Amino acid sequence: MLLQWTEDLSIGNKVIDGQHKELYDRVNAFIEAMQQKKGREEMGGVLDFLEGYIVEHFGTEEHLMKGMAYSGYAAHKAQHEAFKNTFREIIAKYNEKGPTLDIIIMTNAKLGQWLRNHIPVADKELAAFATSRGVAVHPVARPAGVAAAR
Ligand SMILES: [Fe+2]
Ligand SMILES: [Fe+2]
Repeated sequence: MLLQWTEDLSIGNKVIDGQHKELYDRVNAFIEAMQQKKGREEMGGVLDFLEGYIVEHFGTEEHLMKGMAYSGYAAHKAQHEAFKNTFREIIAKYNEKGPTLDIIIMTNAKLGQWLRNHIPVADKELAAFATSRGVAVHPVARPAGVAAAR
């Protein structure tokens, strides 16, 4: 089932919302590819995207949290680290075995969990805090050449 971006998922910040929407689009494209039995072909592209996204997007949020001395920083950062560990696990399996069905299913499940549990909760709290303090968000650039690294 595709994951629908709706306005209630907006955290009210253009930069972070834009990054989240991009993730939704990518996950949906991956789900569609899986439905068309093209998950294996898409897997490498999804991993390349996630590698850059983690640096760029988590970097943006963590930079913002530190800059405004956010009290929820440690807990939020811990969730990002947990996702990074999951991603490393997926990469290790992918490098060992290639785009096997269980890796495709695991990736899809972990991404779905992330979209359901992290963005509408932790990210929304972070944005509410930033808005209440009138803090602007500055995007952290995605490192060049990440997609070509694999
Ligand atoms: Fe976050
Ligand atoms: Fe986020």
